[in-house]
Amino acid sequence: MPALVVVGAQWGDEGKGKIVHFLGKDADWVVRYQGGNNAGHTVVFGGQKFALHLTPSGILAKGCKSVIGNGVVVDPNAFVKEVKMLESRGIKVRGRLFISLAAHVILPYHIYVDTLREEGGRGIGTTKRGIGPCYEDKVARIGIRIADFLDPEVFRKLVRRNLKVRAAELAKVKPLKTIEKEVFKDYDRQRRFLAPFAADCSLFLDAANKKKKRLLLESAQGSMLDLDHGTYPFVTSSNPVAGGACAGAGIGPTAITAVMGVTKAYTTRVGLGPFPTEVEGHVGHYIREVGKEYGTTTGRARRIGWLDVPQLKAAIRMNGMTALTMTKLDTLTGVHPIKVCVGYKLGKKRLADFPVSRREQLDVEPVYESYPGFSGDLSKAKKFSDLPRGAREYVLAVEKLLGVPVSIVSVGQSREQTIVRDATRLWS
Ligand code: IMP
Repeated sequence: MPALVVVGAQWGDEGKGKIVHFLGKDADWVVRYQGGNNAGHTVVFGGQKFALHLTPSGILAKGCKSVIGNGVVVDPNAFVKEVKMLESRGIKVRGRLFISLAAHVILPYHIYVDTLREEGGRGIGTTKRGIGPCYEDKVARIGIRIADFLDPEVFRKLVRRNLKVRAAELAKVKPLKTIEKEVFKDYDRQRRFLAPFAADCSLFLDAANKKKKRLLLESAQGSMLDLDHGTYPFVTSSNPVAGGACAGAGIGPTAITAVMGVTKAYTTRVGLGPFPTEVEGHVGHYIREVGKEYGTTTGRARRIGWLDVPQLKAAIRMNGMTALTMTKLDTLTGVHPIKVCVGYKLGKKRLADFPVSRREQLDVEPVYESYPGFSGDLSKAKKFSDLPRGAREYVLAVEKLLGVPVSIVSVGQSREQTIVRDATRLWS
């Protein structure tokens, strides 16, 4: 079966939602394999705008089934809200969306702990959705999985034990008894709502594989927020990189046939942490406003920077990317010149690669090449040759610097504003 992983090549928010929706038309199954409702995937479809946080963007592609994999952390409240939102807007969800019985559950106390740390001086700029503390429980082997959540007796026992484990931290928020009441307040309703969606998804995906179905594996966040390979400790608590798709979906590495990296035509990041090519001032402000660079999940203003070749090369390497999609090329119209970082200076040294050490990630100074830029409206371009010459030259220069084909260029939010340069490289 062709199995394509779609992964963010930067710090998240690259426009994966749109690309998954676009490629989802050719997929039988779309699987989210990590993260939780910290993600924000915006998809414009049929004149409507959908902001999805937990559900794979494939749910909007007709005929395609979706899985929230075992590697995802699921806030039952967020799940109920998102399913209701989709149904109220005419999207058929039941019988098309499944949650792995092995996915872990985010409960109110995870959100309290996350918020407490963020607001108590130990913050890294998280989304405060309880993601980190839920993964901590998973690794500490005290986590609560969907299968446990659906069993009231087991669930009650595990919640009471976990509240005791976290008692010292939680005491700073409110009395444990009050938190316990909050956990159980909507529990029965949530459990009944969730039960029909729960399944052993690894079995489905194996059956799909045997029937040679097409599988699209969708990451949340981006490679530089990867727990192992990102700008640690300013990272999320899971593995967005393509390797994480196998563990987080329950398929083997031999099933993967292609990896599509998604990069903006520039760079953004939200939250704290190193960002070598960050630009402030007029240019940063202009790109933020034209590109509407405000978080889908938290509404925070995104930090803006130029494209960073050593950073993207690291992402290409750690994901084994076979092709790239460049999004938001239209946002750069009117920006003269456009800069691209091609290496770094570190004191007297020159670096070609993105450094691993936190000190070096902060201290590197980018070395830029400049491109003249382009003007005009790109949003109606249907083919690569419809783009202004300066835009084409920019894409071709980036492709050459990176050594990976830029197979798709996106020039707007809707599916129609997508230029496929090479359809043969997408799934294999
Ligand atoms: P957490 O995932 O909420 O624990 O946040 C950890 C880091 O990842 C913070 O810097 C967040 O801003 C960042 N982050 C989490 N989800 C996203 C996303 O979907 N897009 C961009 N950044 C994200």
